[in-house]
Amino acid sequence: MRDWISFWDSDHSIYVNARHFDVHYRTIADMIVRHVPSPDAVVLDFGCGEALHADRVAAACQRLILVDAATKVRTGLAARFSGNPTIEIRAPAELADLADRSIDLVVMHSVAQYLTSAEFSALLVLFRRLLRPGGLLLIGDVIPPQVSAFADAIALLNYGAANGFLLAAIRGLLRTAVSDYTKLRSRIGVTLYTEAEMLQRLEAAGFTATRAKANVGPNPARMTFLARSG
Ligand SMILES: C[S@@+](CC[C@H](N)C(=O)[O-])C[C@H]1O[C@@H](n2cnc3c(N)ncnc32)[C@H](O)[C@@H]1O
Repeated sequence: MRDWISFWDSDHSIYVNARHFDVHYRTIADMIVRHVPSPDAVVLDFGCGEALHADRVAAACQRLILVDAATKVRTGLAARFSGNPTIEIRAPAELADLADRSIDLVVMHSVAQYLTSAEFSALLVLFRRLLRPGGLLLIGDVIPPQVSAFADAIALLNYGAANGFLLAAIRGLLRTAVSDYTKLRSRIGVTLYTEAEMLQRLEAAGFTATRAKANVGPNPARMTFLARSG
């Protein structure tokens, strides 16, 4: 497997069963809804993944743009949401033709770790161009340097226990231990940020940023940042 996009484009088993898949994406959708500023807002979910419950976000805004680099993910999204006129699906390159300052909320959840530092910088420039003045950029599930794959495993077990899929989580972790995910994580790694580094990157890109009190994903040691466009 070449890179992280190829991994997300493959038949991976990161979501350990249907219950995990459902709870995960419901939690993300409800988190996004809490940040939608008004029913006429335009929302962009970058690196949205399967976005199983994007219809909940779409019900709270005027236009929802789902963006993902993985072709297979986009094909699944197109099939799932073909009947929803509020939702459009795009590849990252198709963001170039969006108008400046046309978006109210950009969400990038659990994606920063799969981007190089240069790719992340380029995205901050893009998001700054697309966001209206005062618009919000939410970057979630950022991994700080001290958080290991072991800590992620413990977090998944806790999440499984709290949501009725503990046994599947144990089986899923065993599968993941010998999967392409683990091989890629040790071969090309994930990009890690300290809180100070992330705040500095956001401020340098023209945002006024804070770290949110809690992370939304299952691992509370990961970080979420809220950044306002000036
Ligand atoms: C861990 S999943 C996160 C999905 C969802 N946002 C969530 O929080 O569950 C990472 C997603 O980011 C996408 N991705 C990775 N690199 C990307 C890039 N450079 N541009 C757009 N999407 C990317 C992957 O295809 C994958 O669907």
